Amino acid sequence: MSLAVYPGSFDPVTYGHLDVVYRAAGVFERLVIAVLVNPQKAPLLPADERAAAIREAVAAEMPGPAPRIDVATFDGLTVDFCRAVGATHLVRGLRAVSDFEAELQMAHMNRALAPGVDTVFLMTSVEYAFVSSALVREIARFGGDISPFVPASVVARLRR
Ligand code: PNS
Repeated sequence: MSLAVYPGSFDPVTYGHLDVVYRAAGVFERLVIAVLVNPQKAPLLPADERAAAIREAVAAEMPGPAPRIDVATFDGLTVDFCRAVGATHLVRGLRAVSDFEAELQMAHMNRALAPGVDTVFLMTSVEYAFVSSALVREIARFGGDISPFVPASVVARLRR
């Protein structure tokens, strides 16, 4: 069985992330979306809320693949989480060439740490190429409308 981990901060999850989830679910038999708990950063949403928002969005937006997709939180190294769940691949999304340099560096570091876990890049759909969690956080902090960029599960949580 092919099992991949899609790690990220997902603060918050965007339609761009969900596009990558959908594509990865077409490639791998099982996918674990791994939400990083980073004590050094003050997130917009706590990790368990970020994970819950992803779970709801996956169930609502991709009912077909949803049973093969799990969502978990993790701390520490991504490759340790991959090994703990038995993943052979790590998925990352690329929106533009500008994403590639940092992602390539991370992929090589992760390969050095865990040669058995290979990174696979999936290209985000062009309609989401400009969407970023950082900009969504900024728009949300100033009270702007984030509904074009994030699923309803995120909008509802931020309204609360
Ligand atoms: O959504 P992001 O913030 O771009 O995701 C970055 C993430 C979580 C994939 C990366 O920071 C990460 O893997 N952090 C866990 C700690 C780790 O493994 N660091 C070494 C990376 S080479």
